[in-house]
Amino acid sequence: MIPEKQFNIGKILISNSLFLAPMDGFTDHPFRIISKKLGAGVIFSEFINGLDIVNKHPFLEQKIFFTEFERPFAYQIFDDSPERILFAAQFLAERNPDFIDINFGCSAKNVANRGAGAGLLLQPQKISRIISLLVKNLSIPISAKIRLGWDDASLNYLEVSKIIEEEGAAMISVHGRTKKQGYSGSANWKAIEEIKSARNIPIIANGDVNSKDDIQRISSATNCDGVMIGRGAIQNPWIFQRKNIEDVTYQERHTLFSDHFNSILEFYGQKTGMVLFRKHLKSYIKLDHLSRSERIQLFHPLDKIHFLDQVEFYMRSQISSQQA
Ligand SMILES: Cc1cc2nc3c(=O)[nH]c(=O)nc-3n(C[C@H](O)[C@H](O)[C@H](O)COP(=O)(O)O)c2cc1C
Repeated sequence: MIPEKQFNIGKILISNSLFLAPMDGFTDHPFRIISKKLGAGVIFSEFINGLDIVNKHPFLEQKIFFTEFERPFAYQIFDDSPERILFAAQFLAERNPDFIDINFGCSAKNVANRGAGAGLLLQPQKISRIISLLVKNLSIPISAKIRLGWDDASLNYLEVSKIIEEEGAAMISVHGRTKKQGYSGSANWKAIEEIKSARNIPIIANGDVNSKDDIQRISSATNCDGVMIGRGAIQNPWIFQRKNIEDVTYQERHTLFSDHFNSILEFYGQKTGMVLFRKHLKSYIKLDHLSRSERIQLFHPLDKIHFLDQVEFYMRSQISSQQA
């Protein structure tokens, strides 16, 4: 096993280098808490739209809530306007996060096509302006999350990472795909290694880490300072304990499920919580092992007791067939 690397984001010492990736719609406060309990080192908020801060979006407070337990904790912002990103960052800095991350990687059409997220990879000068504005005006570290470029014909990760470093950012996380790739194909770990070799600030490797062996493999392949896990953590939150899903017992699954379910209901209220929890079901049961009618039943608004009985039944039967 490769020894855990220690490094700094600004003055913050990072001694656990497994990062929970920012994931819109998933890495809310309850999911971050369970990830942290299982051993995630560094935690990001879901991305926060600068426009939502300016316009005081009604769900903003829920989105930006975090607790001391989540530290080291970063807010992630996306937007296309450097001035609005600065406004958002100054607003969020008042909540005292450990650092602020800027999204230069989101490939969703409604983000990238408006010139935010990965859309900014087409405008390196704007990236330069955003990072320099933030570094000059905030006293906490600024980091960035990038992709490799817009498409294969415009791979500019070395240029972009250089700009981000030179403007004073404290760390870069790299998802080893282009905007055009979306989530298709596989992440290019070699390109992440090139960035790591060329830069002096900490580089975090991201993309396609789905098992405990992948953590080792991406660390060796990229030599990065940390490893960021996204979809692998939704499928298997125990990955932060360096455990594969096959090795998670029924009891462990049941305990985490109850904890997660109750905290979602507490955080959002029972009605909304019951709806929102559905998307986390795949952390606990294999939905593709259920029949269509079983799935429909599970996603149909059931009362809480009935829902819990059903999930427990599927968890138990899936574990026993796995062990048989
Ligand atoms: C549902 C979902 C939501 C995401 N939301 C964000 C986000 O808010 N900010 C961000 O930088 N990346 C976001 N991403 C990208 C992930 O952070 C990560 O870079 C990507 O999933 C690749 O890592 P993985 O292979 O470990 O999943 C999202 C990904 C998914 C699947």
